[in-house]
Amino acid sequence: MTLANKRILLIIGGGIAAFKTLDLIRRLRERGASVTPVLTRAGAEFVTPLSVAALAGSKVYTDLFDLTDEAEMGHIQLSRSADLIVVAPATADLMAKMAQGHASDLATTLLLATDTPVMIVPAMNVRMWDHAATQRNLATLRGDGIAVIGPESGDMACGEHGPGRMSEPLQIAAAIEGALSGGPLKGRRILVTSGPTHEPIDPVRYIANRSSGAQGAAIARALTALGAEVVFVTGPADTPPPGGVDLHRVETADQMLDACRAALPVDVAICAAAVADWRVASASSCKMKKTKGGLPQLELTENPDILATLSQPGPQRPALVVGFAAETDDVIENATAKRQRKGCDWIVANDVSPQTGIMGGSDNEVTLITDAGAEGWPRMSKDEVAARLAVRIAADLN
Ligand code: CTP
Repeated sequence: MTLANKRILLIIGGGIAAFKTLDLIRRLRERGASVTPVLTRAGAEFVTPLSVAALAGSKVYTDLFDLTDEAEMGHIQLSRSADLIVVAPATADLMAKMAQGHASDLATTLLLATDTPVMIVPAMNVRMWDHAATQRNLATLRGDGIAVIGPESGDMACGEHGPGRMSEPLQIAAAIEGALSGGPLKGRRILVTSGPTHEPIDPVRYIANRSSGAQGAAIARALTALGAEVVFVTGPADTPPPGGVDLHRVETADQMLDACRAALPVDVAICAAAVADWRVASASSCKMKKTKGGLPQLELTENPDILATLSQPGPQRPALVVGFAAETDDVIENATAKRQRKGCDWIVANDVSPQTGIMGGSDNEVTLITDAGAEGWPRMSKDEVAARLAVRIAADLN
């Protein structure tokens, strides 16, 4: 019962994803939370007050001007008696109203009147999400200290493909657990890059590497468990992404850098991705055909170095930047030089020689390199490395 005695005020906005919120209510109650639902007028077009009330085991609040409720419990008290306010789905319209400080119905009034932490779970059409106005509102809301979960990319109910799909109920429940855990990283925003990148040669072929994304996913999970808000930027990895993170899927190094820049400001950046060092200078827009004339000549160009870019001094530089160094020989010397070259604060170095069995395995044996020198950690599981790193980060920040 990870959410025992926690009180969640759940605002259900008007989007097709509202049906997933019904499952979220179930997941939250399974974890011991009490859920007080507020259904916006638009939300009631998608789910009925009766089904919400039945699942929540609670009265559903629907209208600011319900005099009985005003007598029993005013909207200000309603918004303040919760441990967390969750807006799911957070529609483009609700986000805009929140960013502007509207108080035009019960949901927006109590969001404005509250001093309780707020988490939003956006869901909308991909064009609406990408629109400059929504992105502006998103930046405003983040700046106001509101936690943002998702949205995820994928096929949408409207038939389009891209970011806009509401995160899954289990992911949202994990994020709520993290936010309410009161862990040592509560209130910290941490960027984690993970997985390989795919660099296109033509529409069907790409340059890639064998990174599974296991260590990056484990780190994100460990940070979430300590209460951090994690922005997880991942290339196409085999390991499924962890729950409870702000998930951004990318393909190429360029896209990864863009997603990282968009995530700033963050308190900590951890670059666990195996970014391809090179890409094809001009990928073909049509499938390349075999010709009798000879083999294709692929001209390569260097990819941006994300770790070095994030480490550059400036107002947006995270307080702590952590890189990885996978080496096969002279591990400590090479990793120490890499720390200098990239300008990061810590390097987690490991020996990936075939005889260690680390590449693709579940264990890892790392050396943490900081300005205080090299610190060897015993061989342990990737989950334990992640947990230990998360605790070290918490100690460094606090
Ligand atoms: N990294 C990055 N962007 C790149 C390349 C690497 O962010 N384009 C990050 C990785 O996520 C990792 C660290 O840099 O944290 C080490 O990457 P590595 O590829 O080992 O470093 P290189 O600069 O390529 O050095 P070497 O050629 O010695 O392998």
